[in-house]
Amino acid sequence: MNPSDKRKFGRTDLEVTAFGFGTAPIGNIFRSIDEATSEAMIERAWRAGVRYYDTAPMYGHGLSELRTGHGLRWRERDELVLSSKVGRLLKPARRSSIDFAPWHDAAPFELRFDYSYDGVMRSFEDSLQRLALERIDICFIHDIDVFTRGEEQPAVFEQAMDGAWKALSSLKEQGVVRAIGVGVNEWEVCHAALQRRDFDCFLLAGRYTLLEQDSLDQFLPLCEERGAAVVVGGGFNSGILATGATPGAKYNYAPAPDDIVEKVRRIELVCKEHDVPLAAAALQFVVAHPAVPCFMAGTRTVEQLEQNLAWFAHEIPGDFWSTLKEQGLLREDAPVPA
Ligand SMILES: NC(=O)c1ccc[n+]([C@@H]2O[C@H](COP(=O)([O-])OP(=O)(O)OC[C@H]3O[C@@H](n4cnc5c(N)ncnc54)[C@H](OP(=O)(O)O)[C@@H]3O)[C@@H](O)[C@H]2O)c1
Repeated sequence: MNPSDKRKFGRTDLEVTAFGFGTAPIGNIFRSIDEATSEAMIERAWRAGVRYYDTAPMYGHGLSELRTGHGLRWRERDELVLSSKVGRLLKPARRSSIDFAPWHDAAPFELRFDYSYDGVMRSFEDSLQRLALERIDICFIHDIDVFTRGEEQPAVFEQAMDGAWKALSSLKEQGVVRAIGVGVNEWEVCHAALQRRDFDCFLLAGRYTLLEQDSLDQFLPLCEERGAAVVVGGGFNSGILATGATPGAKYNYAPAPDDIVEKVRRIELVCKEHDVPLAAAALQFVVAHPAVPCFMAGTRTVEQLEQNLAWFAHEIPGDFWSTLKEQGLLREDAPVPA
């Protein structure tokens, strides 16, 4: 599979590359990345033909949008597709009063949730200023899931389906954005949102991967029916599908539990038999689903990026996938690469 292959973005007139550049790491999630590495990764991705970049105001409290804009500002704008998100406003504050976790050396702004019509319009304008770009192509309503909002989630979801939806629909009608959607960590929330509103797309993190395919039951079939595109982020489940079952491997941003480590070990045995790197299987599996045009990959170093690009292109024999299915390690009905 070629990382620079262009794929139709659902029912919209956009095309994205099959491999996307996720910018949570250059917002300094968990630890800092220096400016030179951030620039070098964007440059390397561009040279490899990667033309879809995803950022958000939350990442590094604005730092990721600043760095993404810096890396992309002088490229031919029509050649690339950019997504960002709405739902948090950034307010200047003293560093000592800001809760930065999990971001390191972030920008001095505190995050305030706001899914109202006015808040979303303001958030969108602020993103353009930080990026110093004239437009954002795809805009997701960010983090209206239980994972992020806990008990408040039902109320937050309602506000988003009203104010945020109206604001994004208006931006789309005006031609300011070309696709609108929801970016969360739970397929159930995406499914509920698609039942309520006519979204073009979703950024689903961690819930359609080599380890988890419950979204095949209801959500992904509905996306196919409606022509909604699903960008899969967190396709390494935050680490373990890239590193393998090594000590300290991460699953969903925390140490991997025993049952997950065991499942990854069993998948790794099949990988060994077929001479397939685990991460190559993780990357390529996701984009075999007809509703998924893109794997949004997060990387921390140029070396990781190069490795991921190579894994994306690694040839995988067809019987690898059938063995995973025979051993109950992959759902029978999961589409696999041809
Ligand atoms: N709610 C949302 O809308 C949402 C949520 C999550 C993600 N996203 C998007 O999706 C993107 C990707 O998600 P993600 O960054 O959270 O997770 P991910 O792609 O599952 O994992 C990224 C991590 O995997 C490890 N990794 C990647 N390539 C590797 C390699 N070649 N070798 C070893 N380890 C490797 C790195 O961990 P180490 O840092 O430990 O080295 C990296 O930080 C984000 O950047 C963002 O754009 C959106």
